[in-house]
Amino acid sequence: MAGICVAGGTGQVGREVVRRAIAAGHAVTVLSRHVPPAGSEKHHDGAIYCAGDVTTGEGLAAALAGADVVIDCLEGQFGKAQKKFADGGARLLATAHLADVPKAVALSIVNCDLSTFPYYVSKADKERMYSESPLETVVVRATQFHGLVAMLFSAGAKVLVIPAFRETRFQSISPADVARALLDAALEAPRVERHRVRTVGGPEVLTMRQMAELWKAATGSRGRIVELRLPGAMGAFLRAGKNLIPGQSGGTETFVSWLEKRQESL
Ligand SMILES: NC(=O)c1ccc[n+]([C@@H]2O[C@H](COP(=O)([O-])OP(=O)(O)OC[C@H]3O[C@@H](n4cnc5c(N)ncnc54)[C@H](OP(=O)(O)O)[C@@H]3O)[C@@H](O)[C@H]2O)c1
Repeated sequence: MAGICVAGGTGQVGREVVRRAIAAGHAVTVLSRHVPPAGSEKHHDGAIYCAGDVTTGEGLAAALAGADVVIDCLEGQFGKAQKKFADGGARLLATAHLADVPKAVALSIVNCDLSTFPYYVSKADKERMYSESPLETVVVRATQFHGLVAMLFSAGAKVLVIPAFRETRFQSISPADVARALLDAALEAPRVERHRVRTVGGPEVLTMRQMAELWKAATGSRGRIVELRLPGAMGAFLRAGKNLIPGQSGGTETFVSWLEKRQESL
């Protein structure tokens, strides 16, 4: 049994890590700014929830005390949170080092270092913090989540336009598959190489148009699928296929099976 601190353990991937770790008999502590109420979908019986904030350092030492490994599933998507994302990772690692936590695993995005899109730059900055840490570290780079692509469709469908970016393919993955890869990385035996990178992606590559058709069929949306050219750094990244990991996967849950499980909430 290992002591596992899941930073961001109330988020969509973090809570899957928590669920899986508790089921496997590990002692789990969760760090997030807000402690979820018992009975909510973010709360798992058996985990200890600690309020803390990586941008201030508040609560980190208590959450990390006694852990054998910390799994960083934190997010910082917009504005100041994005600018401070890598610093938050560094603060988490520094506190873990002081608390004698020997190992840290971080969730990141496939090829984030190959884009100038600011959100991806913040992920690459955090990866660098992990590669320079005195702790043993593993960065797990995942492809886009099924839910991210579905969110683009549902946002557009509100105005009856289901966007399909031209020349864009995804190898999308479920949070459960990402969580499994994170936990595997957390529990693997120490290696000679102190800082490692793993990649994990979904089981199939689909064009965004194919995904839009599957989403439309699953939801019964009346929206029209419209092909668009996504401008900017993100558009260029996607058209170049840098979001894919050809010949590799790790994930088992397809977009369709993920949609089927969520039929009522789509
Ligand atoms: N979406 C994708 O397609 C995709 C693909 C590959 C990788 N990723 C990466 O996966 C990671 C996790 O994503 P996700 O969607 O699971 O995130 P999420 O659902 O937004 O969850 C974020 C978690 O971090 C916590 N958190 C945020 N700010 C915090 C702070 N300052 N201090 C302490 N806790 C904080 C949140 O809880 P509180 O709000 O209560 O603090 C929550 O538990 C992200 O780094 C993302 O870039 C995403």
